[in-house]
Formats: sequence, structure tokens, C-alpha cells
Amino acid sequence: MQRRDFVKLAGAASLMPSVSFASSLPTVLRAEPVRAQILPEGDGLTDLWGYNGGSPGPEIRIPKGGRVKVDFRNRIEQATAVHWHGIRIENRMDGVPGMTQPLVIPGASFGYDFVAPDAGTYWYHSHNRSWEQVAKGLYGPLIIEETTPPDVDHDITVVIDDWRVTETGALLDGFGTMHDQAHGGRLGNFARALFAPDLTVKSGARVRLRLINVATARVFPLQIDGIEGAVVALDGMPLDRPEPLRDLVIAPAQRIDIIADVTAQDADDIKVIFTTRQDPYEMGRIPVRGTAARVPRGPVPPLEPNALPVPDMAAATPLTLEMQGGAMGRMRMPDGIWAFNGKSVMDDIPLHRFSRGETARISLINDTAFAHGIHLHGHHFHELRSDGTLGALRDTSLVARAEQRDIVCVFDNPGKWLLHCHMLDHQAAGMKTWIEVT
Ligand code: C2O
Ligand code: CU
Repeated sequence: MQRRDFVKLAGAASLMPSVSFASSLPTVLRAEPVRAQILPEGDGLTDLWGYNGGSPGPEIRIPKGGRVKVDFRNRIEQATAVHWHGIRIENRMDGVPGMTQPLVIPGASFGYDFVAPDAGTYWYHSHNRSWEQVAKGLYGPLIIEETTPPDVDHDITVVIDDWRVTETGALLDGFGTMHDQAHGGRLGNFARALFAPDLTVKSGARVRLRLINVATARVFPLQIDGIEGAVVALDGMPLDRPEPLRDLVIAPAQRIDIIADVTAQDADDIKVIFTTRQDPYEMGRIPVRGTAARVPRGPVPPLEPNALPVPDMAAATPLTLEMQGGAMGRMRMPDGIWAFNGKSVMDDIPLHRFSRGETARISLINDTAFAHGIHLHGHHFHELRSDGTLGALRDTSLVARAEQRDIVCVFDNPGKWLLHCHMLDHQAAGMKTWIEVT
């Protein structure tokens, strides 16, 4: 990324208007045109699509095991559907048009009703023409609270996105272009971290930050100044042992939960910084005002675990998912720019049919010149460490170019589930398949 191509932001971040997506449990969720102050105040508004008047849409927050029941109404000019990303959900509520439900045409509605089995940080987003609809703002946070929440002073959701906009804030047209599809997707020229709630914190306070990358294409290497703590969860799922807060990388659709103490002094700020290869790019700040009464809390404890099935490694079915194609790639595909295992079209033949409870070990092989974030619906999987042990649970695995990573999944959720690249232009251009669990 060329720094000069980016619309200015550095230094202006503390003057950023708040974009409110305060927590609520709506009974109606409307997809509709919205107008938001994405650029710094005075730089023009951006016409987007959002939910219930905003982009991000309202933060939906329920307790673990709680139920989301919303009457979804489509008030935009395209057909759409809502996918509840990362939730181990009942198949017919997964929001994939043509596979788990019909398209919700303009003016129509659809009832979503599901129970969220696991605590953690999740999100919801459009799953039709997602390379356009998500780029236009159709997403929101979905937070499932632990039965015993961690001891923190503030629980802050941090939505990370980039937009391709003019200097006056108009969203640039041209969604799903062949160039974006064949390269790294629709990368924005303006990036920002949005906070909810929008507040100030005290020096010495303990905060939980829930980072969600809702961008359609950009992988963000991040640095957070002014805090000291640990990563406690990835893609919603708690880590057995919290990990040090360094080398943060968040791919599209991924989440990172952090618990940390504010080390920035009174009158300073916590800064979320996108560490580009050129200048660091500041995406947003949380102002630090005042000093908390000193209560040393010690190291960050792990979050309460979710109950997931344990893989049977000895009986694991081996599978390969090879990513192919794209610009500078080895092969030109006959019916798509990208392919999985030589296939670019979704038809009625799944990648694999699993019997319920079966463990699979899937080798993700990236034989392309680009990174891909491979997302599986309806399940979480372990990334395998290089020593062969089970690593973190994820729903989206970032595989760098020429990299290979094995993942291990217990396919215990019956239904038809998508497996696709979450660089949404890649998904549109062939990087998409499905599996079935019966
Ligand atoms: Cu978050 Cu199939 O997507
Ligand atoms: Cu991809």
C-alpha cells in the first residue's frame, strides 16, 4: 500500500466523530440506506448501507446460551440475507441464500431465530453480493457474554474497516471488478477503528477490547499503544493460555479479544495503529482521562472456556484444499479467476460429505501469490501448530502466499456449510465450496 494513496487521517483521529453502534437487542433488523460520518468531521458524509440506521449496525449482545430472535426486513434495492459469522448455529439460520434460505428480496422479510452456544466476539453481515454489500456497510457486532465475565472496567468493541472513498467521502463505485478479484480484493484508501461504547478510560483501568475486522479484503497488522496485557481469544474462542500482545495480525472476518491495563497516562490516548510498511497509520484513539485508584490485578487470566467437541486425531479423515489461480498465479481457470482443487464453480457436489461427529484434518495449501482467509461456516476448527499439536480454535484461517497450514475440525453440526475465502472478491471469483454433514 502506498501511504500517499491513503486519504489523510493521521493526527485527525482524536477529532473523529463517533459512529454509534451501541449495544441493544433489537427485535427488528432493517437493512437500509444510511449516511455516516466516516471521514473526519467537516470532510463530508458517506452514503452507505447499514442496519437500523447505522453502519456498523447495532451491537447485538446476549448471554451465552441466549437467543437472538429478529424480524429481518430488507429496505435496500438488492436482495440480501444475514449471516451470523462464527456462531455454531442451526443450519437453516445460517443466512446463505440458495443453500440455507431463500434470498430476501427488496421489501421482503425473514425471521432469524437461533441460540448462541458459545461466548465470544462474533459478527453479522450480508451474505449476498457480499463483496459489494459488506463493502457498503452491511455488518454489525454480535457479542455473546460469558456466564462469568472477566473482571474488567470497560468492555469495548473495536470495529476495523477500510473504505474506498473520495476526498469528500463518496464511496467509489466499481464493486467486484476483475482487477480487484484477481488481486487482493477491494482494498480501501481510508481505514478506521470504530469504538462502542464511545468513552474515555482512566489510566490504570483494565479494559477488554474486542477487535473485529469487517473489511472485505484488507489484512491489518496492528499495534495498540498505551495498554499492556494479553490476547485472550481468537475468533470468539478463548485461548487456553493468554498470549502476549505483540505481532497482532487480523485478517478479514477474524476477531481478537484483548484484556489489558491502560498504561497511557492521564490526558494521553490509547492508539490503534495500522503498521503499514511505510508510515504507521493511526486508525483511532480511546482518550485516557484521569487515573484509576491503584488496584493491582496481576496477570490476565484465561476466559471461561466454551465446550467444543475434542478431535479424534487418530481417526481424522485427511483432506486437501488447494488454493489456485489469481494474478501472477500458475494457472488460468476456465470458469473463474480462483479455484479450490481445480474447481471454480459451486455445484451440487460438495468438497466432502462427513458423517456427524467425524474429525477431519484438512491441509490448506496456498499455491497463489496472495494471502487468503479461509472461513468455514457452522463450526470452529483448530489450526495445527508446526509441531503437530492442536493450536487455537478459529473460524477463519489466514494462509499467506505459498504457505500451508493444516486445520482439524470435528464436523458435528448437521447441514450444508460453506467453506470460502473471506477476501470477498476472491469468494465471488471462484474461491468457494461447501461441505455437508449428515
Ligand atoms: Cu463471514 Cu460466508 O461468511
Ligand atoms: Cu482469497
